[in-house]
Amino acid sequence: MTPLKVYVTRMIPDEGLARLRERCEVSVNPEDRPLTRAELLTRSAGMDGVLGLLTDRIDAGFFDAVPGLKGYANYAVGYDNIDLPEATRRGIPVSNTPDVLTQATAELAWTLLLAVARRVVESDRVMRSGTWPGWGPLQFIGADVSGKTLGIVGPGRIGQAMARMSKGFGMRVVYWGGRQPSRVLEDEMGAERLSFAELLSQSDFISVHLPLNPETRHLFNADTLRMMKPTAFLINTARGPVIDEADLVEALNKRIIAGAGLDVYEAEPKMAPGLDTCPNAVLLPHVGSGTHSSRTGMALLAAENLLAMLEGRTPPTCLNPEVLSKK
Ligand code: GLV
Ligand code: GLV
Repeated sequence: MTPLKVYVTRMIPDEGLARLRERCEVSVNPEDRPLTRAELLTRSAGMDGVLGLLTDRIDAGFFDAVPGLKGYANYAVGYDNIDLPEATRRGIPVSNTPDVLTQATAELAWTLLLAVARRVVESDRVMRSGTWPGWGPLQFIGADVSGKTLGIVGPGRIGQAMARMSKGFGMRVVYWGGRQPSRVLEDEMGAERLSFAELLSQSDFISVHLPLNPETRHLFNADTLRMMKPTAFLINTARGPVIDEADLVEALNKRIIAGAGLDVYEAEPKMAPGLDTCPNAVLLPHVGSGTHSSRTGMALLAAENLLAMLEGRTPPTCLNPEVLSKK
């Protein structure tokens, strides 16, 4: 029997590759950069399975280029890079990596929240510049966190973890989103479900945990940013296009809101002009899931998903399980 062939579009932690190599012939993009579109299509051609990244566009053109594809595993929880209806139409199972990165991503959202509230990056820069004149009562005064209102936009796993971590700060938690009220948020955290407008006007910190789709694109724009308190902060560890980044730059410069902590951008790796000079923004390079245990967990889960798809078992976290029952 010819061994199953798998392509991995970029180096991932060894544990995942080792798991795949137990059962398959594995090729990996040898360079530490995303593949171009042409490379993705030519190198995936002839493969039984592909393990790819959020930077790979997985759509009809990709599926056409890989006619024998038996499964695609995304090395990410977000899957806005995949045309899922198209995969389903073609009967190709697709998976993502939820849960293993929930705590790490919520921790990073908290890192941004605290860093922007207490002006950590601005202050760090002053220390390094050698211009700090010594302690002063009016220097680098930041915002309080304890007892404030935390607005969770998108009460999924990561939003819930973010809310749970606020307990130590004695915050009031409000939330918006989700088809149903969140039992976890309401019963465990006493959180209150608000309309989007109410959440905008009542929150001191808003943290975004929504998937990107046509309904969530530019949810935060000039109009909705203006509905936030001028003392409030916006944190985004989800997907950049949920915020209109040019509008955000203007809101930060005009102090329509107090600050922002961002891990994701509209057109990565670029940023909207002017964002880099906003002192009231803390900017990270999409590292929400970037801890050893989380990235290793993602590698193992993506590998397990792909193997299951290729071997006809049920993948642990399949996004279109309806195609499995049809096989
Ligand atoms: C990272 O952004 C992910 O979706 O896992
Ligand atoms: C993603 O895993 C989420 O549900 O927030």
